[in-house]
Amino acid sequence: MEYNRRKFISFIGKAGLGTMITPPFLISCGNNSNTVNIKDEPKETLELLKETILEGIAASDQDDLLLAKGLDYHTIIKWGDKISNKDHFGFNNDFTCFIPFDENNPKDGLLWVNHEYVNPLFVSNFNFHDFEKPEEHRTIEQIDKEMYNVGGSIIRIKEENGKWKIVENDPYNRRITAQTPIQLNWDSPIKGKTTVMGTLSNCSGGITPWQTFLTCEENYDGCFGETEYDEQNVATHRPSWYGWEKFYEYPPEHYGWVVEINPKDGSAQKHIALGRFAHECCTVYELEDKRVVAYTGDDKNNEHLYKFISSKPGSLKEGTLYVADTINGKWLALDWENQPILKSKFKDQTEVLIRAREAAKLLGATELNRPEDIEIDPITGNIFVTLTNNKSKDDFHGSILKIEENNAAFDALDFKASTYIAGGEENGFSCPDNLAFDQSGNLWMTSDMSGSSMNKEDKPYMPFKNNSLFVIPRYGKDAGKVIRVASAPRDAELTGPWFSPDGKTLFLSVQHPGEQTTDVNNPTSKWPFDKDNIPKPAVVAITGDLIEKMNKLSQIQESQNS
Ligand code: FEO
Ligand code: CA
Ligand code: CA
Ligand code: CA
Repeated sequence: MEYNRRKFISFIGKAGLGTMITPPFLISCGNNSNTVNIKDEPKETLELLKETILEGIAASDQDDLLLAKGLDYHTIIKWGDKISNKDHFGFNNDFTCFIPFDENNPKDGLLWVNHEYVNPLFVSNFNFHDFEKPEEHRTIEQIDKEMYNVGGSIIRIKEENGKWKIVENDPYNRRITAQTPIQLNWDSPIKGKTTVMGTLSNCSGGITPWQTFLTCEENYDGCFGETEYDEQNVATHRPSWYGWEKFYEYPPEHYGWVVEINPKDGSAQKHIALGRFAHECCTVYELEDKRVVAYTGDDKNNEHLYKFISSKPGSLKEGTLYVADTINGKWLALDWENQPILKSKFKDQTEVLIRAREAAKLLGATELNRPEDIEIDPITGNIFVTLTNNKSKDDFHGSILKIEENNAAFDALDFKASTYIAGGEENGFSCPDNLAFDQSGNLWMTSDMSGSSMNKEDKPYMPFKNNSLFVIPRYGKDAGKVIRVASAPRDAELTGPWFSPDGKTLFLSVQHPGEQTTDVNNPTSKWPFDKDNIPKPAVVAITGDLIEKMNKLSQIQESQNS
């Protein structure tokens, strides 16, 4: 669908400005109502602001984190930094989520950071390019290092004099790794276990209404492989890319789940009821009666979009998992008891959840172009889902899907789906991945063109240069435009955008800089340019006038509407 600016404004604003539907748990965690106050600003200043154009930056292939005018960044933490006497920060940081200790103090709290995967070249000193059969040359020491560097980190951070810093050795600082025991939130064991070993492939995530972190296991098959079934339902093991299963025999069925982490004690559980697939994220909404709805997508070509509706308050176990038929606008229940077609193929509900992809296809779910992040528009309640791309279907640039639940009820079983905006040269971005609404309802978006395709003459991604961060303003002269506000270092992807509770800081991950490196002594990136002269993934804090300006524009619009 061709993108239409006017349509954006009418779509996105139709519930009326200022009628935030954001539930209270989001308000205390960043997606809150606007805290900027324009009452004391001179009228002339506001008039001038209304006329200003937000200056984005041009696409760039420079090896640096470049920002638009009015934005600054500082690095909070990078791979290998000590977080305590015994632990250090893991590799390839992705999703971030900040929960303050006290909702009246937005400047002190716990930051969760996902560590999605490792580059063995940097982490375990193993170069896959050196061997014809790399799997024959791996050692347990290498595997242990790799397993330590995935999962997630909890770090206490504080802002002082405009700078966020880790509180080193704070008792809350801890690592969760691929070797941390984690319980299954389910009544029957899976592959004989009720507690499994570790979490991995932690891509994006979410936050619960009861203030815990959700971290999602995405490309888990890269670590312990996958169990695959032929037409006669005979299982075989597809080996992993990393080859960890040669050293630790953990079944693939223990991975591919949504994992909940308690910020205060690090205890973790895997939520089986939400299904098993390449979970990108998990976006939870609390209904008035305290039941929850959780949206989650399967980031693989031709896979699906799901939602779980709980039958009990605050439960991510009791309830029903649905999968989307976006053509007919129906949520289809993955319910073994009441779906004869599922009963004919699977032995029980646990097997339906473990093999959710196959179950979804049997029910006639719509194949999508790699659903990535999901966010709920805090003003209209519409659900936005990035479909990053699907080269097998000639969709190179992706799009954002908009879901409008019937009667705006999150537990509805009918909905309307439409394309909100498509990637491509006309709109200036390609391969949308993470999304975040700020406190005023402006939409921030990161892109994820793969490292092997970026800046290549023979690929359609050439005009977009490095991966970037964009904002789509909701108000003012630029409403509806896609504005590039940050450009990533070489080979990197910007991930995990999350706003601080006062809306003034955007936490952002810089993931896999220098990923195309084949020789450690000659890396393709050296960002963040520290003494080691190698690229390092890091989490940064972005602040500045531009964020403030956008919040003020929403206030001006609101004051005009009232
Ligand atoms: Fe890890 Fe779907 O991005
Ligand atoms: Ca992603
Ligand atoms: Ca998000
Ligand atoms: Ca991605």
